[in-house]
Amino acid sequence: MKTADRGTNAALMTTPADIAVLRAPAFSTLCNAAFRLRKDVFVREQNVPEEIEHDADDLTATHFVAVAAGEVVGTLRVVFKPEHAKIGRVAVDRDWRGRGIARTMMVTAMDYCRQRGVDRFYLTAQTDKTGLYEKLGFTAFGEEFMDAGIPHLAMSTYAQDH
Ligand SMILES: CC(C)(COP(=O)(O)OP(=O)(O)OC[C@H]1O[C@@H](n2cnc3c(N)ncnc32)[C@H](O)[C@@H]1OP(=O)(O)O)[C@@H](O)C(=O)NCCC(=O)NCCS
Repeated sequence: MKTADRGTNAALMTTPADIAVLRAPAFSTLCNAAFRLRKDVFVREQNVPEEIEHDADDLTATHFVAVAAGEVVGTLRVVFKPEHAKIGRVAVDRDWRGRGIARTMMVTAMDYCRQRGVDRFYLTAQTDKTGLYEKLGFTAFGEEFMDAGIPHLAMSTYAQDH
């Protein structure tokens, strides 16, 4: 069986209860798997330059992974700033999309922040993905801008001062 077929079959046989979202310390085995997934998704699939995909924030960020069928199939990171928690690098393996994994990771990460007294969230979304984040309480603001050749919009869960 080809690797891709294995992934597709595993995804079809997995229920939401079989998917775990875990916090993964930077450069742990799970986090390194997340970095590989990010490279597949952002660098290979979306043509983001590798030198900007992996950045200094990875050293201090809080990383989350979604694990299913023994593999890391999703990831995101949270960077704590003075004014808010910035969520980024949200990526789900192609075979596992459309099963609520991004939403589950976002809810877990936001709960983690709220338990630590942080309830203001910010992110920059690829413009065609804003619907995902609107369902989680984010609102887009400001002008569209390009990042790594992809149109983006800033989004937050709290009102912006203008
Ligand atoms: C975008 C991405 C992370 C979504 O992951 P996913 O696990 O398939 O998303 P989910 O299944 O958790 O979707 C949750 C909800 O958001 C919606 N949603 C998902 N992707 C969406 C999109 N591109 N546009 C609008 N809504 C979207 C889903 O329909 C779902 O709605 P529902 O709760 O009403 O059913 C995934 O497609 C991906 O990794 N894409 C490539 C990398 C990328 O673009 N990352 C985001 C950068 S901003």
